Amino acid sequence: MQRTQAMTSVQPDWENFYPRPISEKIPFFSSGDGRLYDCLFAQQLNPDLLTGLFRTADKLRKVTQTKDGADHVAGLLSHKRAMLYFVQPSTRTFMSFLNACHILGIKTSEIRDTSTSSEVKGETPEDTVRTFSSYVDMIIMRHPAPGFVEKTAWLMNRTGRPVPIVSGGSGKDQHPTQALLDVYTLYRSFEGDIDNKHIVMVGDLKRGRTVRSLSYLMRNYKGISLSFVSPKEFRMEPDILEFLKRHDIPFTETEDFRGVMKTADAIYMTRIQDEHDKAGESRAVDYSPFYFRKEHLDLIKKTCVIMHPLPRRHEIEVAVDEDPRAVFWRQERNGMWARAALMAHIFGVDGKIG
Ligand code: NCD
Repeated sequence: MQRTQAMTSVQPDWENFYPRPISEKIPFFSSGDGRLYDCLFAQQLNPDLLTGLFRTADKLRKVTQTKDGADHVAGLLSHKRAMLYFVQPSTRTFMSFLNACHILGIKTSEIRDTSTSSEVKGETPEDTVRTFSSYVDMIIMRHPAPGFVEKTAWLMNRTGRPVPIVSGGSGKDQHPTQALLDVYTLYRSFEGDIDNKHIVMVGDLKRGRTVRSLSYLMRNYKGISLSFVSPKEFRMEPDILEFLKRHDIPFTETEDFRGVMKTADAIYMTRIQDEHDKAGESRAVDYSPFYFRKEHLDLIKKTCVIMHPLPRRHEIEVAVDEDPRAVFWRQERNGMWARAALMAHIFGVDGKIG
């Protein structure tokens, strides 16, 4: 983990920096040695990085099966401390990052509510996060404000004591480590071969950050086709559709879930994101055509996997869980290994595992 000239040299003001295309911004958040420094955008992940992270995650889960192996891995980063700053609700992302830190021996501290930090005394979120960086070697954060996680990383990279910032979800915008674990789940489900798959994303595609980040990652694989299935009120945003067109990734948009599920290799379900409602607009939407029901198990391919970032409400009937194609419980566990692999990569100890 080293600083690059690009990161430490004079950078433009935030107002000029933020609107730039992500491809231009990526060097500011990378290490000099080709490693990620901050993890903010799914677009930072290229095929080599992804494959490397999946191999590290596979090694970690194998090596830690024995006490000797687990003790070795828990010694790799026992000199590091991480702060988990999660000021939006979280179960899986928080728990999997926390336990991923513990697997690697990273000591952790946490704030999960701004009412318990000096933000209630009027300290700005920017100063609060800078304060964390005085005590720890990495900040893992989830924040509701668009761009705030990126702004923190940008600010940190201008200080004399930067620490890596890892996003655990940023507003409605991105959730890069969820996309990482989603693709890791595809990698494990399809024995390493993600190419030529038809992936169907279902639900509130407008406000779900996981489907946005996952769409960006599809650029790394060949022959992918996507179907976006949503109520007309919650269609995928145009910026993602433009990204897919630019990268020659074919997609369709439809409300006919039954029609597309037959050809799916993976069905990625999402819940309605009504926490983003301004005036209860979700209540007017009939979400039930976008549920996966037990009867649908007879329609889908034998090899199709059913995924969900979770939490679920009603969009997957509980009776579906018993089917071996329902991989969402494995998917959430994959998150812990994928996140441990990511942190081992950022701190440069991935070569010392197994
Ligand atoms: C997702 C999120 O927070 O965006 N949850 C998660 O991290 N597993 C999806 C959601 O809340 O619907």
